[in-house]
Amino acid sequence: MENQYIIKGGACLKGEVTISGAKNAALGILAAAIMTDETVVIDNLPNVRDINVLLTAIEGIGATVKRIGPHEVAINGSTINNMTIDYDSIKKIRASYYLLGALLGKYQKAQVALPGGCDIGSRPIDQHLKGFRALGATVNIEYGMINTCAESLIGSHIFLDVVSVGATINIMLASCLAEGKTVIENAAKEPHIVDVANFLNSMGANIKGAGTDKIRINGVEKLHATEYSIIPDQIEAGTFMVAAAATKGDVLIRNVIPQHLEAISVKLIEIGATVEEFDDAVRVTADHRLRHTQIKTLPHPGFPTDMQPQIATLLALSEGTSTVTESIFENRFKYVDELARMGANIKVEGNVAIIEGVTELTGAAISAPDLRAGAALVVAALVADGYSTIDSIRYIERGYECFEEKLRGLGAVMEKISIDDERAVQKFKLKVG
Ligand code: EPZ
Repeated sequence: MENQYIIKGGACLKGEVTISGAKNAALGILAAAIMTDETVVIDNLPNVRDINVLLTAIEGIGATVKRIGPHEVAINGSTINNMTIDYDSIKKIRASYYLLGALLGKYQKAQVALPGGCDIGSRPIDQHLKGFRALGATVNIEYGMINTCAESLIGSHIFLDVVSVGATINIMLASCLAEGKTVIENAAKEPHIVDVANFLNSMGANIKGAGTDKIRINGVEKLHATEYSIIPDQIEAGTFMVAAAATKGDVLIRNVIPQHLEAISVKLIEIGATVEEFDDAVRVTADHRLRHTQIKTLPHPGFPTDMQPQIATLLALSEGTSTVTESIFENRFKYVDELARMGANIKVEGNVAIIEGVTELTGAAISAPDLRAGAALVVAALVADGYSTIDSIRYIERGYECFEEKLRGLGAVMEKISIDDERAVQKFKLKVG
């Protein structure tokens, strides 16, 4: 049953919200967990669809997965009996391709369906395959499957042609049990890269330099059991920071690593919001109309592309003309048409959105085009005048745990109802007035 959000705009978000574990760290870590034959316990997993789908794929290849709680799992890869990840898994979650690096690294062979494009761009994986070949694997693509195998994997000096989070993680996985030393130049530096490297090191890997653009991996014989807790989600935190500023609220966002949020905090302060940093929390307030600025998405530590739709929504209501340049993906402005239906004034020319701030948005029936754009449209509906419905919220549920509960806990007037339940819409309107 398809669900939708129904939102009455106008509430200022106030109070405290706790951020879940980082989805994009957890996906790499879950794949890495199968690389030992001992049991690995992972905590602070976000309870979101992408994670649950990957856990099912991991069970599908024969590993044992034992849920210890909604945010904790024990994985044991000793019973893996199948090196093939089918198209169905990859269609549901692209990051299943991390199992390519993990299975190749552990068993010197793997077969994973070639992921298609997605809502935000074509997203090739040529750099992943370049890394595997550099380690001595043969890689061929036929019948929609990537087949990799190697007599043995030998460390190599790999230069990524583009900064790629996925390729960096996949090559780390494939090389941590290889013979000798691997260097990844032009590596991605996102917090989730560091978390995957720390996780592998807690299993006995020997990885140095994660978080810089040069990562050195000394292959080890084998990996062992570990217990590990995932870092907080930088993008979920950033989304709530933007929602607090957009609704002129006052929100304490708990369980964050402020350093991971710097690019977002700096920009919010630049346009007139207040951001107060604590050890593991940030407090965001705004009590007046915000100002315009220029945003360019860049690999970490630049402004994260996964925060691009959210900050653009905030700027749609700020005074003056802002620009948002999307330099990572080629098709990440699909939400602009939805915002325009709410009264936003945004023109997209190539990979630049030119945003004329308006003083008000009005509620409308809108549709989430992808995960982060969906979250941005929720922010728009929270500040729009009147009612909005947002459908295709399955995209949002891929990466945000209990999104509507967390927002309602901050005073948002919203509910999740089934897509064509007109009665529920009327009931909501009667209830909230
Ligand atoms: C990861 O995707 C994230 N997904 C994305 O988050 C995020 O937007 C992206 O990194 C950038 O930060 C996960 O971690 C599961 P890339 P990934 O490889 O690894 C090009 C979300 O909202 N490229 O860093 O696929 C690619 O086309 C999602 O949670 C190649 O050309 O991103 C893109 O233009 C959306 N060849 C650029 O590099 C390759 O082999 C960056 O992509 C690989 C990538």
